Amino acid sequence: MSGLSLKGALKDSELTIITKAGIWIEAGMVKEVGDFDALQQKLEGQVEVQLLEGDFVALPGYIDCHTHIAFGGNRANDFAMRNAGSSYLEIAEAGGGIWSTVKHTRACSQTELQALTEQRAEQLLQQGITTIEVKSGYGLQLDEELKTLRAIAAADQHCAADLISTCLAAHMLPKDYAGTAEAYLEEMANTLFPQLISENLSTRVDAFVERSAFSAEQAKPYFEKAKALGLDITVHADQFSTSGSKLAVELGAVSADHLEASTEEEILGLAQSDVVAVALPAASLGIGCAFTPARRLLDAGASLAIATDWNPGSAPMGQLINSASILASMEKLTNAELFAGITFRAAQALNLSDRGCLAPGMLADFVIYHTDNYQNITYLQGSLQPAAVWKNGKKVYH
Ligand code: NIG
Ligand code: FE
Repeated sequence: MSGLSLKGALKDSELTIITKAGIWIEAGMVKEVGDFDALQQKLEGQVEVQLLEGDFVALPGYIDCHTHIAFGGNRANDFAMRNAGSSYLEIAEAGGGIWSTVKHTRACSQTELQALTEQRAEQLLQQGITTIEVKSGYGLQLDEELKTLRAIAAADQHCAADLISTCLAAHMLPKDYAGTAEAYLEEMANTLFPQLISENLSTRVDAFVERSAFSAEQAKPYFEKAKALGLDITVHADQFSTSGSKLAVELGAVSADHLEASTEEEILGLAQSDVVAVALPAASLGIGCAFTPARRLLDAGASLAIATDWNPGSAPMGQLINSASILASMEKLTNAELFAGITFRAAQALNLSDRGCLAPGMLADFVIYHTDNYQNITYLQGSLQPAAVWKNGKKVYH
């Protein structure tokens, strides 16, 4: 997938498919990808050869660029109530919603939260995901956000996948905060941002720009402070109402995620920018709402990534290929667009240039399936499981 465009629609005929291929790995990186026999001849006796007997397909390790897997508790009751017809407000009044996960997450020790994050990261790794973005955002006070980000950093040390953390202290105004939304954001920016940098906890800041969370006007100064410190910005944008994606474009965010409510105006704005549009089909399936207008975004020329949004409230599924394949059926995405969305375009959303395609100089992260046709991966909508997963040139699963 190395020669494919970072933006816009992609045809399957543009995919580079090498039959009888070999991957030459050195020091955890891809040195060369090409015809196996030619590589074998060139490297005769100089490298250890691992031969896969039978039909196998290898793809770049997947990148899940949007998750909230550092959480405690469970929101099965929210799901049941929503499906039985209860409103957002009724669910919150019954003790559900984001605030219930905040309470359960605060009740976890850092070690417990680390263990929960590791378990979920392992489940993602087994799907072929070798890089996982993980947001905080269920702490919502300085020490609790720090606990979450430290738990993610510790989990990263134990996981074969790379965990990329994002500070989402601006997930909602905590119910136990005595001041205004503006005061909360200012306090977080002044106290938490310097810690992100001094403890090397994150290089990314996210905010939920929505009626039930923070307005674009409230989020803007917060993001500007993050940018001034050199932090990347990403936005939970246009999930139920528009405004977040315009702010993302205005501030030069790396990505604008959700976009279920985006109209032609927001789509064009994103397409004319370098902001990656991130579709989260498992959140549409979890809530039972419209999908991100992925086809229109691509046709307008946007870069589209696809992620799980794995979280206990809107997206409990945590299945990347399954949810991305469903999005592809509903939105008419080609395989090239789908795979780009979970590999090199997802890398772009995380501002990572060392992964997302199998090409010289890239990390040797890849996923292998026992099949004779790569199309089976999306055709089987997630039920074809990887035969093996490699991270930094080492087999880490199966
Ligand atoms: O990405 N939209 C806001 N945040 C999450 C949901 C979090 C939750 O409900 O716990 C999301 O869908
Ligand atoms: Fe999210």
